[in-house]
Amino acid sequence: MSRTVRIAPSLLSVDFGKLAEDLAMLEEGGADWLHVDVMDGVFVPNITFGVKVIETCRKLTRLPLDCHLMVVEPEKYFDSFVKAGAATITIHVEASPHLHRQVMRIKELGAMAGATLNPATSLETVREVAADLDLLLIMSVNPGFGGQKFIPASVQKVTRARAILDDTRSRAVLEVDGGIARETIAACWRAGADTFVAGNAVFSAKDPKAEIRALRALCAEQA
Ligand code: DX5
Ligand code: ZN
Repeated sequence: MSRTVRIAPSLLSVDFGKLAEDLAMLEEGGADWLHVDVMDGVFVPNITFGVKVIETCRKLTRLPLDCHLMVVEPEKYFDSFVKAGAATITIHVEASPHLHRQVMRIKELGAMAGATLNPATSLETVREVAADLDLLLIMSVNPGFGGQKFIPASVQKVTRARAILDDTRSRAVLEVDGGIARETIAACWRAGADTFVAGNAVFSAKDPKAEIRALRALCAEQA
């Protein structure tokens, strides 16, 4: 099976004092998506940004906006986020008792529908909707902050997620988020992931553009 590597730098690690410049740099550096971490201070112990920032990013970059909603009652925001330019909307199963309905609603609005789970949440929570998903995101840290350490057991979870997607003939993108760096990306790629969020690894690098290339190359080497 041929897979394309996607690198999705996280807006959480951008210097907001030079937002336009940083977004242009990511685009030039070959980033595929911009990962947008929306946090409400309730589902996770941190607050980030909402629709206004998504609108601003939409104006500043052509990169698809990959919106990860770490919020309770995510359905409140589907319409406004899609209008603001979200390409994907990924919701947490822990915050979505009616996951099937919510996934269908996101698709109806014209965005890609994603589901994600915290490290402690079983993949069985997504099996029944796997075929309907456009994206499955495996959290490899507990959500809330950038710059955390990759949880090693996540690699096995990616392997099991790949098997569920294959079993259900799902064509969903398989994305990994948290602690992705040179040391961790290849194992996730080998386990079957194709899309990688990278915050700290890209932005703490001396040359972020070279880092995006290096992360991609580590997957290509193992293809
Ligand atoms: C964590 C966020 C991540 C985060 C990743 O709650 O969902 O997207 O920005 O950052 P790094 O790559 O620094 O772990
Ligand atoms: Zn995220």
